[in-house]
Amino acid sequence: MKKITVAIDGFSSTGKSTLAKQLAKALGYVYVDTGAMYRAVTLFALRNGFVGGEQNNMSALVKLLPKIRLKFKFNQELGYAEIYLNGENVENEIRTLEVSRYVSQVAAIEEVRFKLVDLQKQMGKDKGIVMDGRDIGTVVFPDAELKVFMTASPEVRANRRYKELLEKGDQVNFEEVLQNVKERDYIDSNREFSPLKKAQDAIEFDNGDMGRKEQFERIYNYALRVIEKIN
Ligand code: C5P
Repeated sequence: MKKITVAIDGFSSTGKSTLAKQLAKALGYVYVDTGAMYRAVTLFALRNGFVGGEQNNMSALVKLLPKIRLKFKFNQELGYAEIYLNGENVENEIRTLEVSRYVSQVAAIEEVRFKLVDLQKQMGKDKGIVMDGRDIGTVVFPDAELKVFMTASPEVRANRRYKELLEKGDQVNFEEVLQNVKERDYIDSNREFSPLKKAQDAIEFDNGDMGRKEQFERIYNYALRVIEKIN
């Protein structure tokens, strides 16, 4: 049976990865979290002092890009793939507010996008993939058979992220999480290279309006119809 490519884009903390994971599992497809890739490069930049200090040194980061190896390895227990940066599992380290603070600046660099988009295209070359991010339906897989674009108000999204961080034991306050969500929305939507925008042929979902179960069922049924059509 022929497989399809599913592209899920949208603002941060709209529940893209939850939906993408569920969908990949139900279809028996591979799930790829491209935000994790940008976050891992940001963690590398932080550890090397290229961001987070007085001034960013993005040209030093660009020079070292060939030294960054990213890999996803499937974790049987969790049921999804975790990201490895130069052989180290960094799945937890990349989810901190500190990484969130710098990730959009790192993701705006053309060379970074070039490297990661190339890797993403390779991962999806055989189809049978559900990929989530900001530019999947517009740049990475403009020919994806199914494109979803997710939105919700900044407050709804910040609240979700705030709870996640608290549950992990991070000492954060709601205002700084909300500010980070708004800042990332702005940088991601206004950057020069592949800004976040809805692909013309994407289905739009307002996450604040619809329950997770209903969202999943609608997208899953939609995917089944698309698959049926091409086979
Ligand atoms: O999805 P997540 O919130 O983890 O993504 C972190 C950041 O990575 C985004 O705010 C955005 O700056 C960047 N990103 C991107 N393109 C993607 C995925 C993520 O620019 N395809």
